[in-house]
Amino acid sequence: MDNIKIENLNINGEGVSFVYNKKLCVKGVLKDEIVNVEVLQTKENFILAKLNNICSPSPMRICPKCLFVDQCGGCDFMFVQSADGLAIKKQIMQEYFKGIFSGEIIANASKKDFAFRNKVSFAVCKGKIGLKKQGSHEICEISHCLVANEDINKAFEISKKWIKNAKNCEICHIVIRGIGGHMSICVVARRPFDYGVLEDLKNALEGSFGNKFGLFVSINPSKNKILGKKCDCIFGEEKIPVNYFGIQTYVRPLSFFQINDDVAEMMYSKVLDEISNEVVVEGYSGAGLLSCIMAKRAREVYSVEIEQSATKDANDAKKLNKLDNLHNINGDCDVEMEKLLLQNSGATVVLDPPRSGVGRHTLEMIAHTLPNKIVMISCNPYTLRQNVVFLNKFYNIKSFEIFDMFPQTSHIESLVVLERK
Ligand SMILES: C[S@@+](CC[C@H](N)C(=O)[O-])C[C@H]1O[C@@H](n2cnc3c(N)ncnc32)[C@H](O)[C@@H]1O
Repeated sequence: MDNIKIENLNINGEGVSFVYNKKLCVKGVLKDEIVNVEVLQTKENFILAKLNNICSPSPMRICPKCLFVDQCGGCDFMFVQSADGLAIKKQIMQEYFKGIFSGEIIANASKKDFAFRNKVSFAVCKGKIGLKKQGSHEICEISHCLVANEDINKAFEISKKWIKNAKNCEICHIVIRGIGGHMSICVVARRPFDYGVLEDLKNALEGSFGNKFGLFVSINPSKNKILGKKCDCIFGEEKIPVNYFGIQTYVRPLSFFQINDDVAEMMYSKVLDEISNEVVVEGYSGAGLLSCIMAKRAREVYSVEIEQSATKDANDAKKLNKLDNLHNINGDCDVEMEKLLLQNSGATVVLDPPRSGVGRHTLEMIAHTLPNKIVMISCNPYTLRQNVVFLNKFYNIKSFEIFDMFPQTSHIESLVVLERK
């Protein structure tokens, strides 16, 4: 199809146009561009297309810095400056939330446009290592990832040399995390293997990172998740030390940790602005850094997290920082939040769910107990809108901010504060 004018961008960063009364979606385009596309899929009201060429480019369009941008596909907004990318994300959100929020959404930029990621999962297959091409199982063999921090790139280079010689067919991923000069390198395999092959990798990592790294193995027969249920430390540091807002904590490979340290710090400080000397009930608390930060200010903090290793990190952090008013609960929010909400009706509720959004029962319990304030962090505008629409009967949106947690990509991180009507 030729000469398609892009009307808008949607929450997935796709350009939207209307052709023969059908909505056409295409990646890699900007508002007002005129493009030629190839149709990939047609449904009753919908066409999915692939960009062929741009007839009339937007003045915002720049040449992407990464050589692998088209093959890898992870950085789907690399064809605009980060500042323009963030302005586009703000516009997308303003439009998407139009019916329920008429105020201005505040957009917070990332300090770093590149080299901001503190964790990357590299795919491995038959001696090849790289990033999985978007929507495929194929590996894109990159030389360097521009959004990953320098330490990750260094550890990737070492892993690449090692995997070529190791020729171990069982290894399917190497997950590298690097925060503040400390590293965790986790080798993931489908089946148990002889750990002797890791000796060369360990020696090479030692040469670069001294004693500031941990080498891990995770056995994961399942293809649905990258890491298995367990992650065994084979050598070195069992956890990465981190220090924010004067809180000392540790992160293990299985625990969630925000991938852009600077933006996480900025976002947590905005959450902290909403907390005073009250009771906080926190759902989806991860390794507990935000819980500790809040516990320094709040009267009591009750935090619920499903991942055992993350709760272990959170309990270590509680002890280390002597926070007797912090109570970490390991379990499912849909089970554990009920009692906490019933017992603390005046609480401030802080929620930072995974992409699937806040659990149904947690939402129902909020609607039933009506806590004073809800601070909601979300990495998925779709489920965020669903959750806010559900709560909109009882709550007004006090403030709405977005954070450029993932520059060069269309992903949007939001912080929404809801107050009782
Ligand atoms: C987006 S992360 C937020 C972590 C934390 N707030 C932070 O900033 O580091 C979501 C967390 O929710 C946890 N989680 C997912 N489903 C859950 C559930 N049903 N109940 C409790 N925790 C859950 C995940 O393990 C993950 O640690």
